[in-house]
Amino acid sequence: MSERIIIFDTTLRDGEQSPGASLNVFEKVEIARQLEKLNVDVIEAGFPVSSPMQFEAVKRVAGEVAVTIAGLARAAEKDIKVAYDALQGTGDFRIHTFVGTSDIHLTGKFGASRYGKTLKEKRATILKMACDAVAYAKTFTDDVEFSPEDAGRTDISYLLEVVEAVIEAGATTVNIPDTTGYTLPSEFGAKIAQLKERVPNIDKAVISVHCHNDLGLAVANSLSAIENGARQIECTINGIGERAGNASLEEVVMAIKVRRDIWDFYTGIRTEEIYNTSKMVSGFTGMIVQPNKAIVGENAFAHEAGIHQDGVLKLKQTYEIMTPESVGVPRTKIVLGRHSGRHGLLARLKELGYGDLSKEELDRIYEEFVQLADKKKEVFDDDLRVLMGDTILGQDDFYKLDYLHVNLGTNTIPTATVRIKINDKIVQESATGDGPVDACFNAIDRALQTKAHIESYQVRSITIGRKAQGEVLVRIRKGDHSFVGKGVSTDIIEASTVAYLQALKMQKLHADENERYKMVKTP
Ligand code: KIV
Ligand code: ZN
Repeated sequence: MSERIIIFDTTLRDGEQSPGASLNVFEKVEIARQLEKLNVDVIEAGFPVSSPMQFEAVKRVAGEVAVTIAGLARAAEKDIKVAYDALQGTGDFRIHTFVGTSDIHLTGKFGASRYGKTLKEKRATILKMACDAVAYAKTFTDDVEFSPEDAGRTDISYLLEVVEAVIEAGATTVNIPDTTGYTLPSEFGAKIAQLKERVPNIDKAVISVHCHNDLGLAVANSLSAIENGARQIECTINGIGERAGNASLEEVVMAIKVRRDIWDFYTGIRTEEIYNTSKMVSGFTGMIVQPNKAIVGENAFAHEAGIHQDGVLKLKQTYEIMTPESVGVPRTKIVLGRHSGRHGLLARLKELGYGDLSKEELDRIYEEFVQLADKKKEVFDDDLRVLMGDTILGQDDFYKLDYLHVNLGTNTIPTATVRIKINDKIVQESATGDGPVDACFNAIDRALQTKAHIESYQVRSITIGRKAQGEVLVRIRKGDHSFVGKGVSTDIIEASTVAYLQALKMQKLHADENERYKMVKTP
């Protein structure tokens, strides 16, 4: 009989742990709404105790989205209580608690003697912490998930012991994370098979897996786990996540769907929503999808070689194992222009997955849309996606570019003047630089009396043609943290200036938040 695989999406939690990919509350709610359309089974919305912004985001998502919402918590009462408070919304929720179980974690993270002096003592302490955490979470909800962090490198006998004990304590899902992406598919599958065979109470819980992609094996490991008894997959849109990322939702889901001929599994995912979701996540996080990425990359359905094009024209299946439509990639691009009215714009935005807009928001977007259509005549879906992000999110007057003038030319020293609005204050400065972008950045540094280390600077064209908008991503570093800013314009100098200002704004917000609250580090 066909069996359903539960799709647990952790884009908003592990995905957000991608370096520089932090999302604000509005973006998280928008993505969560899109994940609801995609019909994922569980959304892990964040790690509530880690910061007030995380708490608020989980609370907003739990209040606005009708999907089971999970919140992450270390195996500690405070984390679990805070997660519970954040999860009080309108629907079902899950508390996901975890603790490291590998010897490396026990001797590193739990090296202090209060966890025990020997490895044996430490194992006993951690086992108790895990069971206590599950039992405590159980006082708030029946739906409790437990993860032995770094299970991929955890001693198998100890892993079996922990899993049995947490199920006994009430865990209804046991998630086996390959936290460092270390295992090979056959090895990881065998671990799952051992759990199935050797944990006596295993049928009281769903086996889940959470695979990282350090060796590029996250999807392969997840599929191998399914073959061996896992029935929940934790994954993210576009595979974003800590370091090399997590198993990519679209790849796991489409592998299950495309290979139903040999596998009797299915998911509840509305695959036609995959492309929109991928675009939204990439737009909001600033994490560009590589063109050759499976399922959602720009080239995933492009047939370049003449022999392939000919084959596809005669019979699509010659070189296509799934249709672009099945994952929501349009075969033909819809173009709006200056003469497209509000209705046309609104209808297209809805098709692209943007939730209900207030009249005020629509007015603002329409105004921006008309200005853009005047500049570049043809407005593509990707232009609209950018417009949505910028118009809705860029509304505050915190480091807003008010005026920019740049002087450049052959044998001229590039000079820039910027005027920046900081709430109701205006600052203006000029500076020279090696090039126009450098001059703009120097002028901003002067105006804001700062100097940021530029870690990376990327420019790409959003759409095609001479009038295409350029997107600039600037990543700056301060201590342990990096901050990304994005700017989009038909003028890439302006886009660069906006991107740098946005990165500085993220850094400032982070510093302010850090000052106000004692932050805990995310796992
Ligand atoms: O990778 C990991 O181990 C995690 C856990 C918190 C599930 O993200
Ligand atoms: Zn993870």
